[in-house]
Amino acid sequence: MRLRKHGFLIGFSGSGKSTLGRVLAVKLGYRFVDLDGVIEKHARQSIAEIFAKKGEAAFRRLETTQLKRVLASTRNQVIALGGGAFEFADIRNMVRGNGVTVFLSCSQRELYRRLRNAGDRPLLEVRPRPGETPTQAKIRRIRHLLKKRLANYRAADLILSTTEKTVAQSARRLVRLLKNRL
Ligand code: S3P
Repeated sequence: MRLRKHGFLIGFSGSGKSTLGRVLAVKLGYRFVDLDGVIEKHARQSIAEIFAKKGEAAFRRLETTQLKRVLASTRNQVIALGGGAFEFADIRNMVRGNGVTVFLSCSQRELYRRLRNAGDRPLLEVRPRPGETPTQAKIRRIRHLLKKRLANYRAADLILSTTEKTVAQSARRLVRLLKNRL
């Protein structure tokens, strides 16, 4: 099976990018790259530390420079981007023309279920407003970010819903979807 170059997975945190990316890479015989992992390794800090110490703008600059480096390194990679990366035109332009992009969509309800105990997503750490529970605050943040990002996510070449799917089911569909594109 041959992709034009790279397979990119985009979508919100918790949509399955890293988990499915790993499986897909094995099935394709590609290298798997988790862009957040590359950034953490380069910065020798966790994403949460980068956000806390240097701020979101610095993290976004790292996303762009490290993606550039990854793309220059070798062909035939499955690359999982962070949930906010596709918000940036520089990144969208780098991705376009370098392979096939799949948006892993997932319902808001299921995203919340998958993310409710995750403490490593700085943008989802939100202080409840007066009268609001922590759960409501997190759901509000997920809803807000999803609404803001959906149009860019939907500009992907392909869309695959991972809602109520097991990893094995989604992986099978993903491989099938990409196969049809080749
Ligand atoms: C972010 C998502 C995270 C990570 C960073 C910012 C976002 O990646 O890049 O915390 O802006 O939604 P995941 O999508 O892998 O959680």
